[in-house]
Amino acid sequence: MIRGDLTLRALAGETEEMRELQRVLEEAPTYAQRITGLPPGKADAQSTYSALPEGKSYDDKFVFGIFRGTEMVGCADLIRGYPRPATAMLGLLLVSERHQHQGIGRLAYAFLEQFVQGWGVCDRIRVGVVRTNKQVIPFWTQLGFAATGELRPYRYASVTSEIVVFEKPLPDAPFPPGASTASSRASLS
Ligand SMILES: CC(C)(COP(=O)(O)OP(=O)(O)OC[C@H]1O[C@@H](n2cnc3c(N)ncnc32)[C@H](O)[C@@H]1OP(=O)(O)O)[C@@H](O)C(=O)NCCC(=O)NCCS
Repeated sequence: MIRGDLTLRALAGETEEMRELQRVLEEAPTYAQRITGLPPGKADAQSTYSALPEGKSYDDKFVFGIFRGTEMVGCADLIRGYPRPATAMLGLLLVSERHQHQGIGRLAYAFLEQFVQGWGVCDRIRVGVVRTNKQVIPFWTQLGFAATGELRPYRYASVTSEIVVFEKPLPDAPFPPGASTASSRASLS
């Protein structure tokens, strides 16, 4: 089990960071294969860094590198206030396959949850699992996520599937759903 040497850092899109992000994504080929039917693509870091849901701005997008010591071993993509103002959408949490099953994902998630709570505007975290990647569902349910019953169609290249939506209410959410999105930023490291 990983302990004190794990940190999350918000990425700023610098060249070296993007190179590391691309390496980490390439070190998780099983995930790419399951959701795209293809090996990781050369532009995956760029698309992870820049993809934005409709109607959101980059002020609400946070891409993190997960670091074990100085080495990037994973990444996460978080959107504040999507699809509802009081929901944080975790678009991706990924750990390099070399580092999976060592507790990094669970601990990184705990940091992300803390980060979301620091905003003071979100009362839940949402995750969409593509059914072709259903093997990870126990990871989310063990963290307190439950299926909302919402299913969305998913299509990428040769993969036709559906997205199963999970949400986790945040403990002690101090405000009702639909509260203002005004917030301050917090940092984990
Ligand atoms: C999902 C993911 C982030 C988990 O990270 P991880 O560091 O391997 O997870 P942890 O070691 O913290 O696991 C915590 C618990 O989750 C469960 N778990 C983790 N991965 C699992 C898997 N593939 N299948 C079933 N259970 C899993 C285990 O119960 C584990 O507890 P245990 O080690 O005591 O058995 C990682 O597998 C990953 O990056 N997968 C590819 C990307 C992906 O699918 N992300 C989710 C998109 S929705």
